[in-house]
Amino acid sequence: MAFMEALKRTAQDVEAVLEALLPLQGASAPRLVEAMRYAALGQGKRLRPFLVRESTRILGGDDAAALRVGAALEMVHCYSLVHDDLPAMDDDDLRRGRPTCHRAFDEATAILAGDALLTHAFLVLADPATHPDPAVRCALVARLSHDSGHEGMAGGQMLDLLAEHHATHDEAEVLAVQNLKTGALFRFACEAGAILAGAPEEDRERMRAYARDIGLAFQIADDILDVEATAEELGKATGKDAAAGKATFIDLYGLEGARARARDLVESAVSILAPYGDLADNLREAARFIIERRS
Ligand code: IPE
Ligand code: IPE
Ligand code: MG
Ligand code: MG
Ligand code: MG
Repeated sequence: MAFMEALKRTAQDVEAVLEALLPLQGASAPRLVEAMRYAALGQGKRLRPFLVRESTRILGGDDAAALRVGAALEMVHCYSLVHDDLPAMDDDDLRRGRPTCHRAFDEATAILAGDALLTHAFLVLADPATHPDPAVRCALVARLSHDSGHEGMAGGQMLDLLAEHHATHDEAEVLAVQNLKTGALFRFACEAGAILAGAPEEDRERMRAYARDIGLAFQIADDILDVEATAEELGKATGKDAAAGKATFIDLYGLEGARARARDLVESAVSILAPYGDLADNLREAARFIIERRS
């Protein structure tokens, strides 16, 4: 199936799974569930679930399991966006073309919605409906804990905020921030396929190497779009990173330098997939999409 069509289909399928995993009916705290649903449903490229699904498919794992893991990962991603937008962090009012969660509800509710999305993700992974083998479920839980925590996304967000107070940034600092804040969830997405499929260590390593390259390319593209795109295109505010003193490749090498770096990373990611032949075409297209997208 052509890449854009496959991405669209995954977005629809993930929406249905998230809808089923976040029912409002019967909720003990309906306002909290409304905020969780507001943050998780309706929009988003759903690129991380797509990567889970494709890595699972090329390594021979089960598609329904991949979709549940993708939905769990998307919950963690949506939580990271809700907290990233809070006044204490990036202080944004617009996300996915709508008011941010703390704007639509209030700050305390947004903090709790993020907390609850994060923890619910692990309930989904631990559920036997995700995979019959408890060792596989345990491996998924351990990996997502690592990649979303202080050695992963949350650690990167900390470094991102601290970097705002540094007068200059060097390449090592930018790499550390971006590999963690964005790269870690991409690595989980691709490694999850290897875990679900019970693939050998070399596939797992290859998936992580591919994800490392595209995760970095993805954040470079996000930083370029912050400079070049409009809020209408992106569904979020633009032109904020330089003013906030964020550590980005644009800050280091300028727009053209950052673009060249992103292209090199995509070429590297594509070459890592060589052993999978045509089966990996969607992952190759995903790598290219990441730097060509306008939203
Ligand atoms: C935005 O991620 C946050 C970053 C890591 C830059 P996406 O661009 O994947 O956001 P959605 O899910 O499509 O809204
Ligand atoms: C956020 O990076 C990465 C996360 C872990 C959420 P950004 O702060 O650049 O993401 P946007 O531009 O607000 O989506
Ligand atoms: Mg941020
Ligand atoms: Mg932000
Ligand atoms: Mg950004």
